[in-house]
Amino acid sequence: MKQDWIASAGQPLHGTLDIPGDKSVSHRAVMFAALADGTSTIDGFLEGEDTRATAVIFSRLGVRIETPSPSRRVVHGVGVDGLKAAEGALDCGNAGTGMRLLAGLLAAQPFDSVLIGDESLSRRPMRRITGPLARMGARIDTEEGGLPPLRIHGGQPLRGIDYTLEVASAQVKSAVLLAGLYAQGETIVHEPHPTRDYTERMLAAFGADIEFSPGHARLRGGQRLRATDVVVPADFSSSAFFLVAASIVPGSELRLRAVGLNPRRTGLLTALRLMGADIREENRAEQGGEPVADLVVRHAPLRGIEVPEALVPDMIDEFPALFVAAACAEGPTVVRGAAELRVKESDRLATMAAGLRTLGLQVNETPDGGTIHPGALGSGRIDSHGDHRIAMSFAVAGQRSRGEVQVGDIANVATSFPGFDTLATGAGFALRPA
Ligand code: S3P
Repeated sequence: MKQDWIASAGQPLHGTLDIPGDKSVSHRAVMFAALADGTSTIDGFLEGEDTRATAVIFSRLGVRIETPSPSRRVVHGVGVDGLKAAEGALDCGNAGTGMRLLAGLLAAQPFDSVLIGDESLSRRPMRRITGPLARMGARIDTEEGGLPPLRIHGGQPLRGIDYTLEVASAQVKSAVLLAGLYAQGETIVHEPHPTRDYTERMLAAFGADIEFSPGHARLRGGQRLRATDVVVPADFSSSAFFLVAASIVPGSELRLRAVGLNPRRTGLLTALRLMGADIREENRAEQGGEPVADLVVRHAPLRGIEVPEALVPDMIDEFPALFVAAACAEGPTVVRGAAELRVKESDRLATMAAGLRTLGLQVNETPDGGTIHPGALGSGRIDSHGDHRIAMSFAVAGQRSRGEVQVGDIANVATSFPGFDTLATGAGFALRPA
């Protein structure tokens, strides 16, 4: 059954919040811990549906994973050659990261696998990974148009490649590097624009000999991994909804504790500051090799900007939240060079534009972006198309609306941010089930 929320203007937002663990890091931590020799403990693991789906898949591939307490996983690694064939298809749920990274890994195994996903994931493009993996010698069949399910024929000897990414995608880079771990010779990946480097950092932390710098990674095949403990920082992408909410609701001040500030993730911080947001970083530290800090955000009047195109890959998941900030700013905001938003959990340019129009705003959409003309937000029912970040963004927009915003189809919020509504209402959001 589809669930809805009703969001409306609440109180000023206050409090100190602990945002759940990073989704990208949690997926990778389970994967590399499973492939390592020895036992690894993961702390701060995201208890979301996406990352749990990845953990379940590794259990089905023969890896023993314990959950001694919520947000902690103890993974008994089986070594790079220790995975076993699973009975039946492996369900990645809503997770593009799960499916694309697993495709690279499973293409290198001696057994066959089938990867499936939910309705949204079943519409997402997979040629971006099957293309380079095929060049390495992998055999993966897709549905017409390069869509899931992915039928992976194991037992193929892989060879390293020297590959330049066609789209800025950490998922594609990671799929190639995971296959490269098993390939004959060296795998080299070049990126026209650097993307999040968690795969590279984590391979190094698990003892692999990998060379990397922004835009490049080079890895020799045939290496083993050594168990290590991982501490997952709070997810910047989940924090983004509260950064925008406190910025647009007068009288607000929130502290978000120890948020991961990997520079390839924090484009929204730069964009919001260009818009005039008041966000300070305190208690800077390093956690599990990643920079973290408390983010203290206070309400501030925002002005529209032209979002610098160079920032796009560093804020690729934050555009739904940015659209809401833009809707509440003074003057239009222009987005360009963001065509990738059309192939996320939903077509995020279309769903955000349609939702803001429902609330009375003018949004001009272009193939790779658009212009948001701010104005007073009214009421209406928004279809979030089962997209977690669209649902949370309109819950935020509701906090500045003149009427009630009904946010439709919110169940997938649990894929990345279980407990969002409890945390949000605790901070002052007016948000309730419809
Ligand atoms: C992710 C990479 C990004 C991002 C996604 C998580 C990752 O996708 O949108 O939410 O963990 O590698 P792309 O690689 O498709 O840009």
